[in-house]
Amino acid sequence: MDKLIITGGTRLEGEIRISGAKNAALPILAAALLADEPVTVCNLPHLHDITTMIELFGCMGVELLIDEKMNVEVHASTIKHLTAPYELVKTMRASILVLGPLLARFGRAEVALPGGCAIGSRPVDLHIRGLEAMGADIVVEDGYIKASMKDRLKGARIFFDTVTVTGTENILMAAALADGESILENAAREPEVVDLAECLIRMGAKIEGHGTDTIRVQGVERLHGCSYSVLPDRIETGTYLIAAAATGGKIKVKDTRPDIIDSILIKLQEAGADVQWGDDWITLDMHGKRPKAISLKTAPYPAMPTDIQAQFTALNAVAEGTGKITETVFENRFMHVLEMKRMGAQMDIEGNTAISTGVTNLKAAPVMATDLRASASLVIAGLLAEGDTVVDRIYHIDRGYECIEEKLQLLGAKIRRVPS
Ligand code: EPZ
Repeated sequence: MDKLIITGGTRLEGEIRISGAKNAALPILAAALLADEPVTVCNLPHLHDITTMIELFGCMGVELLIDEKMNVEVHASTIKHLTAPYELVKTMRASILVLGPLLARFGRAEVALPGGCAIGSRPVDLHIRGLEAMGADIVVEDGYIKASMKDRLKGARIFFDTVTVTGTENILMAAALADGESILENAAREPEVVDLAECLIRMGAKIEGHGTDTIRVQGVERLHGCSYSVLPDRIETGTYLIAAAATGGKIKVKDTRPDIIDSILIKLQEAGADVQWGDDWITLDMHGKRPKAISLKTAPYPAMPTDIQAQFTALNAVAEGTGKITETVFENRFMHVLEMKRMGAQMDIEGNTAISTGVTNLKAAPVMATDLRASASLVIAGLLAEGDTVVDRIYHIDRGYECIEEKLQLLGAKIRRVPS
């Protein structure tokens, strides 16, 4: 497994481009299975999770055309198998996103149950209950979700007990081809859900209310092809801005969407950052100052994203004062705290809150990534530490950050990848 070696002590300065959002690209690729004509998905990030989804399509015999910019043209009507095998699903939970489209378009689907992962048990009961409410027969056996339909799915009123991003996306995709109206209540409002809905509408779906907690869908008989460009990654954007703030730096991020990260920008201003933005760019300038500690509580959009929590925890490790970070979405998303303590961070976990008092700098240490965003926070901690920090198991990082070392090098970081 590759490792990243980071030599800390440099302020991040410079400009980088933000890639397409992984968590919009994955449901939009899955949505292409609903169409009876080719769907071209553009602005895809070059990430392992995207490759895994393409591999999954290959497993199902779906023909794809991929160009040099990694735009992918999906020909769903060439599909031969309706099974998502465990070997692939175990490496990427988001494979569950093919369940709704396969069932709605082809009447049957077998998708391996995604296991839990480092950050929590992450059940998929709400996906299953939503499809059953639309008339699907679902059996969970031998580690697989086996779904079938006698004829078309029926529109239904579905209430999500918990706000679930991929649960909302799976049901939204199934409802697009169902017979009649579906109402999704307590639906996820994330920008990635909105991006999926906009793509489905371009394919001919009839959807209203996306971006609110109640989405109405009038099912249609068929969905046609289209070309759709995925929105910029708001978590990647936040990750680099927080890294710059933590190092007292000054950066500009381009090809991004400032309008969907209010919670992050406001928190960075609280940390003492001078933040400016236009339509598709954001600048952050710390004027060489140490950040102030911040407190936050993660929750579904538009509140502070759980996927940015670890990065802010890294900032708090060296910030002036005491900060409290509360995680309300996942039950086990503080593993990075234990690694940062090994680097000298003054942090303690009380229940679902990490309380930290900033130190002037951390000490380099060998650390281990446990999940995608925790690994990004350990890279940030490495930027802040005296000496060479070695981050192991960075396959987690490669799942969600396109060319992270190149982008950080563009910002002046001393970082390099070593094959282990
Ligand atoms: C999506 O995961 C994202 N992944 C996650 O990003 C993100 O952290 C998460 O949403 C929350 O924003 C993708 O979009 C591919 P959830 P998802 O269903 O949909 C519970 C990253 O770093 N729940 O919104 O799997 C669940 O246990 C990843 O890119 C049920 O109880 O998350 C959790 O506590 C990590 N039953 C809460 O809901 C269900 O059927 C939110 O989970 C489904 C979820």
